[in-house]
Amino acid sequence: MLAHLLHLEGIDSVVLEARSREYVEHRVRAGVLEQGTVDLLREIGLGERLDREGLVHDGIELQFAGERHRIDFPSLTGGRRITVYGQQEVVKDLIAGRLQTGRPLLFEAEAVALDELEGDAPAIRFRHDGEERELRCDLIAGCDGSHGVSRESVPAGVLRPFEREYPFAWLGILAAAPPSNEELIYAYSERGFALHSMRSPTVTRLYLQVEPDEDLDEWPDDRAWNELERRLGMEGWTLNTGEVLEKGITGMRSFVVEPMQHGRVFLAGDAAHIVPPTGAKGMNLAVADVRVLADAIGAWYRSGDESGLDRYSDVALRRVWRAEHFSWWMTSMLHRLGGGDPFDAKLQLAQLRYVCSSDKAAASLAENYVGLETV
Ligand code: PHB
Repeated sequence: MLAHLLHLEGIDSVVLEARSREYVEHRVRAGVLEQGTVDLLREIGLGERLDREGLVHDGIELQFAGERHRIDFPSLTGGRRITVYGQQEVVKDLIAGRLQTGRPLLFEAEAVALDELEGDAPAIRFRHDGEERELRCDLIAGCDGSHGVSRESVPAGVLRPFEREYPFAWLGILAAAPPSNEELIYAYSERGFALHSMRSPTVTRLYLQVEPDEDLDEWPDDRAWNELERRLGMEGWTLNTGEVLEKGITGMRSFVVEPMQHGRVFLAGDAAHIVPPTGAKGMNLAVADVRVLADAIGAWYRSGDESGLDRYSDVALRRVWRAEHFSWWMTSMLHRLGGGDPFDAKLQLAQLRYVCSSDKAAASLAENYVGLETV
């Protein structure tokens, strides 16, 4: 996304992708695009397939105490919505867009280290085609995820980490089954959280709260379907089942480093921050970061004005912390917390009832979920 935004400003870049094209185009990740993410993909000319295949949603449902409550987004947010479109589909569209520009995009190019971050010509050392090579550039955008070299290359003591671990994980299932409900369902239950989502009219995406160190082998398909039915089930409603196409465990973590910059390296997305998936913010936050960064880089090349680059971290972190709060709040409200403490459970139910009975509380959830225009 950043490479494309820079291209539109006439700025050259080299994209180094550690994995193969095949891998990144098929890895199942997030699936919910905020309104602003959709608008940006359209603005840069990459929204055509998204408009054809994306599933536009006007709300979500919250389920607790045997009932489902719909939160209607457009009426609560002045017409904003979300679109369900797999992250790997966004990646496919971005790759196709990049290839059309003719500018470099290298797959299986693994960055090994970043050097001379404090000078005018920082370098990336990377492996490609069995050789170690060096790339000198004006700026480095560290968009290499939470395990990448960018954050690791910043000298010790510069970045301050903020972190929260949660005592649970998600078991995720992708199944060849038509979605069982129009909308996503976030279900709070005494047995733990469950989520019904989808990828297409024939593919359902489902999640279950499990133990943090859960063993995937303990979850044969039958057990997973059975547990999903118990947590999501309602009178007169059945969960569609089908062949399980993929199954995996996702850890839950909140993490931020400050600042998101050191010298000539600018961190974006998971390289700088992680959110638990309950608020569907991860990919959207990465897109929001690079939008700010692309503007700052554009201004710097046009006029030599460094002020946007200097402000990048502060500006990006405002949205990051808003999303960190929202994701933590959704996670805390919807999961069975350690040991099933009855006081916690009463507070969660009180909060869920408030969100589902007060338009003002519902509007707060809705505007965060569809993505805030300003933070
Ligand atoms: C998904 O469809 O993968 C999904 C949807 C909503 C979430 C998290 C994941 O909050």
